[in-house]
Amino acid sequence: MSRKVALTGASGFIGQTIAQRLCQAGMKVRALVRTSKDIPGLHHPDISLIHGSLENTESLNRLLEGCTGIIHCAGAIRGSRREDFVPTNVQGVSQLLTVCLSQPSPPRFVHLSSLAAREPSLSPYAWSKHEGERVIRQQAESLPWIILRPPAVYGPLDTALLPLFKLAKQGIGLQLGPQEGRFSLLHVQDLADLVVSCLEEHCPNSSVYEVDDGTPGGYSWESVFRLINPDMKIRLPIPLKFLWLIGKSNEIMARGFGYSPLFSTGKVTELRHQNWVSDSLKARQELRWTPQIPLEEGLRHLFASDSLNLSNRI
Ligand SMILES: NC(=O)c1ccc[n+]([C@@H]2O[C@H](COP(=O)([O-])OP(=O)(O)OC[C@H]3O[C@@H](n4cnc5c(N)ncnc54)[C@H](OP(=O)(O)O)[C@@H]3O)[C@@H](O)[C@H]2O)c1
Repeated sequence: MSRKVALTGASGFIGQTIAQRLCQAGMKVRALVRTSKDIPGLHHPDISLIHGSLENTESLNRLLEGCTGIIHCAGAIRGSRREDFVPTNVQGVSQLLTVCLSQPSPPRFVHLSSLAAREPSLSPYAWSKHEGERVIRQQAESLPWIILRPPAVYGPLDTALLPLFKLAKQGIGLQLGPQEGRFSLLHVQDLADLVVSCLEEHCPNSSVYEVDDGTPGGYSWESVFRLINPDMKIRLPIPLKFLWLIGKSNEIMARGFGYSPLFSTGKVTELRHQNWVSDSLKARQELRWTPQIPLEEGLRHLFASDSLNLSNRI
């Protein structure tokens, strides 16, 4: 009989890819979704939609019915103050853990944190991801858990990095971080493969893993631009003051119009941090996972017209 796995954040950029990858691995997926909109990435006979949210215990109980594992991918990534992130990234984790622990057979808990959790003082988002991890360490009791800390993730459906990559492809390189800053990257398919590995019996429990695409020392903005467009004509290092002004204006507009900003002053502080390099050696050794998609190849597929078929190739 196929294994049943629960997935939160299934409607999101990373969640949709994970849902498809779990199905490819022969699992039945119970996917938590808040929206009533149709999500083409979740059209699959082995995916059952459970409508609800992290705030709703009844829907979480339905989500976990008969599941031997849960991938917790739901997260708030937009906002400007701690209180914008706490309900999902801290209280949501706690609520989900409580429901997991109340199951007759508690499932293995795989948590999508972020490399940002390494630097909680940088922004409200980073702090909330750090707090989410703390909640797991304190509250998980006998529940087997793994925390993954991905760096910036790219791939089809991404709304954060993809616009920058597209602009670079057209010859304009907007450098948002410091010249000497370095960062790791990971293709969303590699992350989805890793998540599937985390459900295996051989995986250690109660461990935190940083992950990356296996490039030692990560990338500079310059090296990414060179890969996207070797003939790039315009490189624009954006001054910190200007970025901060945009972040601040966005926050004020967001408050006025009642939306959650993706680009905030907190995001600026994250972007200006010099070291976002992760090291996936521990993950590769202990989780028996090897990233398969070097940046050059990931970018080629991203820009190719059949980029959405990448999942079929791997
Ligand atoms: N993208 C990256 O580069 C990156 C890097 C490191 C870590 N991460 C982490 O990976 C996870 C997924 O990120 P993403 O980029 O895929 O973001 P995303 O596209 O915004 O997806 C977030 C998902 O979480 C759901 N969600 C948010 N609050 C929820 C709540 N209270 N109850 C139920 N569902 C809720 C959203 O549902 P709706 O569709 O209804 O809003 C959506 O499905 C997050 O935890 C993020 O912190 C992302």
